[in-house]
Amino acid sequence: MTKNIIIAIDGYSSCGKSTLAKSLAKKLNFIYVDSGAMYRAVTLYFLRNNIDITNHDAIVAALEHIDLNFHSRDYQSHILLNGEEVSEEIRQMPVSESVSDIAAIKEVRKAMVKQQQKMGRSKNVIMDGRDIGTTVFPNAQVKLFMTADPKIRAERRFKELAAKGEQVGLEEIFENIAHRDYLDTTRTESPLTRAEDAVILDNTELSEAQQLDFAIEIVSPFLNRN
Ligand code: CDP
Repeated sequence: MTKNIIIAIDGYSSCGKSTLAKSLAKKLNFIYVDSGAMYRAVTLYFLRNNIDITNHDAIVAALEHIDLNFHSRDYQSHILLNGEEVSEEIRQMPVSESVSDIAAIKEVRKAMVKQQQKMGRSKNVIMDGRDIGTTVFPNAQVKLFMTADPKIRAERRFKELAAKGEQVGLEEIFENIAHRDYLDTTRTESPLTRAEDAVILDNTELSEAQQLDFAIEIVSPFLNRN
């Protein structure tokens, strides 16, 4: 029986996980799943519907009304929230400012992890996030833990948002990244941490092509093994 391959990529905010995951998925012809987009879409729903995140019943009821789907177009993470394309809106600052609080909620994580595990059941998948190698797929064949200098990360995100015409200051982005790193690493529910068997990839001084080469080298031994 052929076994599907899972590549788990975890790491800090804005350190290029999705850039690497997308190019790797394209190269290997794997399905790419952006788990952060799922938490962002849930956050957008909570913000739009003024869900009280201190109210357990309201959270559970809201989650029942959320249907998430990915449109796998060119390995971009196009996500649909109840049928609506929200890929652009979930990257904007209001969502970035609230997502780590909402992603810390136990019920939210439970619902997302269940859906993520289902996606990896029958296909070769690359998934990026914070808890993929530790909680979602602890048995993933390949685990990468990505990091980069926080200033470089902020500059990259600044350029990304500016290219989309969004006027957000570098300082504000830096603060947001630092704050999310803090919340993500200190929360009770599956905090961001490196799985013991994850390979560290610090891409502060690497180009996109160099980080892809690094990852291919790690993944290669696991391909064609079936
Ligand atoms: O793109 P960026 O690295 O800034 O973040 P993201 O991957 O879109 O994730 C947004 C937020 O969702 C993170 O800051 C985490 O709080 C949360 N998240 C999580 O808790 N677990 C995951 N597997 C993925 C994201």
